[in-house]
This record gives sequence, C-alpha cells and structure tokens, in this order.
Amino acid sequence: CEARKVALLGAAGGIGQPLALLLKMNKFVTELALYDIANVVGVAADLSHCNTPVKVTGYTGPEELGACLKGADLIVIPAGVPRKPGMTRDDLFNTNAGIVKALVEAVAKHAPNAVLEIITNPVNSTVPIAVETLKLAGVYDPKKVIGVTSLDIVRANTFVSEAKGLDMKDVDVPVIGGHAGSTILPLLSQTTPPVTFTEAEKKAMTDKIANAGTVVVEAKAGKGSATLSMAYAAARMAESTLLGLNGEPNIYECAFVQSDVVADCPFFASKVLLGPNGVAKVMGLGELDAFEQAAMAAMLPQLKSEIQKGLDFVKSP
Ligand code: APR
Repeated sequence: CEARKVALLGAAGGIGQPLALLLKMNKFVTELALYDIANVVGVAADLSHCNTPVKVTGYTGPEELGACLKGADLIVIPAGVPRKPGMTRDDLFNTNAGIVKALVEAVAKHAPNAVLEIITNPVNSTVPIAVETLKLAGVYDPKKVIGVTSLDIVRANTFVSEAKGLDMKDVDVPVIGGHAGSTILPLLSQTTPPVTFTEAEKKAMTDKIANAGTVVVEAKAGKGSATLSMAYAAARMAESTLLGLNGEPNIYECAFVQSDVVADCPFFASKVLLGPNGVAKVMGLGELDAFEQAAMAAMLPQLKSEIQKGLDFVKSP
C-alpha cells in the first residue's frame, strides 16, 4: 500500500494522545505528524519509542504548522476545549469555532488536497466552518471534508449488542442526522443483524445513544468529555478512510458531510462510501420507520440552525 502521512492537530489532548497511539499502530500510516500548541514535543518523543514503522514528529506553535501539514494525506482535528457538566456541545462554539477556522486556513494553504476529518465540537457547526473556510480559500472539495460521528455508531453498536446479547463484532447500527443531543438518530430499524424493540424500548435506546456523551461528561465531573472511546472511534474512521484511499472497495461509514439527502439541510450524517479521494458517494437513508421519521422531523430545526451558525461564523466572525 502507498505511503500515508497523517497529521493530527490537537495531538497532546485527551483525544489526541490515545488517537496518536492508535495511529502509530495502524499499518497504513507511514508518517504521523503531531501538532499542538502545548506539550506535543514530549508526546511525540514518548510515542516515537514504540517499535512500529510509523515515523513520529512533533510540531508546536503556528510557525511549525505548515511543516506538519505539508504532504499529509489525512488530517484529523480534535483541537479545542471539551465540555464540562451542564454544557451542551453548542456551548463550546465560541472557543472552538475560532480554533477550527484558523487550523483549516492553514490546511487550505499547506495541504489543500488532504482528506480532513473534524472531531472538534460542536461538529454540527465546525464542519460547516471548515467547508466555508476552504470555499473562501478556493480549495473546497466536498469529497474531502468529513465530520467524525463514528463514536455515535460505536456507542449504538455496543448498547444494542448488550441489550440483545449479541456478539459486539457482528452488530452494526447506522446513525444519522448530526452529532448533538436529539440530532443523533440511530436507525434501529436498519440494524444488522435485524433486532426488534417495542416502541418504549426503541425510545429508551435512542435516548441512551444520543445522551451517552453527556453521561461521560457528568461522570468525569469537570475533567472533560469522552476521550478514549472518541479516540477509538476516530481511529476506526481513519482506518476506513485510509482503506478507501488505498483503493479498497465497499468501505462504508456513517459520517457528517455535505449532503443533499435531506431537503434544505446542507450537511447531514448518513452512510457514505469511502474511496480513493475520500467520500466517493453519500448514500440515501433507506426506509425509516414511523418513530425514526418523527425523530427526523423533530431534529431538523436544531440541526439546520447549528449548521447555519457555523456558516455565518465564517461570513462574519
Ligand atoms: N491548535 C492546536 N491545538 C490546540 C489549539 C490550537 N489552536 N487549541 C487547543 N489545542 C489543543 C490543546 O492544547 C489540547 O492539547 O487541543 C487539545 C484538546 O485537548 P483536551 O483539552 O484534552 O480536549 P479533548 O477531550 O481532547 O477534546 C477536544 O474534541 O470531542 C471534541 O468536544 C471535544 O471539542 C472537544 C475536542
């Protein structure tokens, strides 16, 4: 397989460090460029001692960002501040919007052809910010900007396996919509293998999946949000993306991307086919049951307004 450079921005953080470790263990990665505004040189030195063939380099401060990004095939961004109890993902907007915009401006300049994966919350707004920033720079390619929602799928797979006594590795639940509260909609009716729930169970399972991030924020009691499970989920997304870049056929993941599957909603998470240039195809939603249709209709105003907030931020920050 081809040489692949992955750049990780926000690499010294709670998500960044375990994600860097998982990428250091990934067989498709040849070079790992770690960037942060603090503590990253030590993280890179530490990680570089693991005897896998991935070359690890730390970069710190805006003056080193260009070198970090140059030649990257895949750029993953978890940089930003995490949630504290009582906060929604949207409450992070003011701080994280500016961080994402500045980092994506550097991506536009130094690695305009890379696939870009955004983890920084609120994803419903930061992905539109990334897209609008790339558009302004004249380098936007819809195949290359991906909002990482794979933690919602990982959680759904775990919770449904547990509830139904199924083997974790066999269960796949598509999750659509966005990546905040009730915009997160697991399609339990499309679970593989097929499972059945009563209406009450369906509602309880959907709420459990949508609120799982908040459960972690509360359990961590002020020390942050999901980091290990997020890193695990982001590593899965990166692996699938690298498989697609390497020409492997039939690689599907749910992700939050520019989309026309839902009228008047320019970004939406749904199943996408990953290919040699990133997102090869945004798939349709399949058939939703009555519960899912109602949840879809109920989420759209919030999702659209969070998307608009991101788009507006770039127009007038
Ligand atoms: N450039 C690069 N790195 C930055 C910048 C910046 N402008 N601003 C902050 N960082 C770095 C921090 O130095 C820190 O190392 O981002 C890292 C964030 O780490 P944590 O504070 O531990 O946060 P984490 O739990 O990793 O979450 C980060 O991901 O899921 C989302 O909601 C979460 O938006 C949050 C983000």
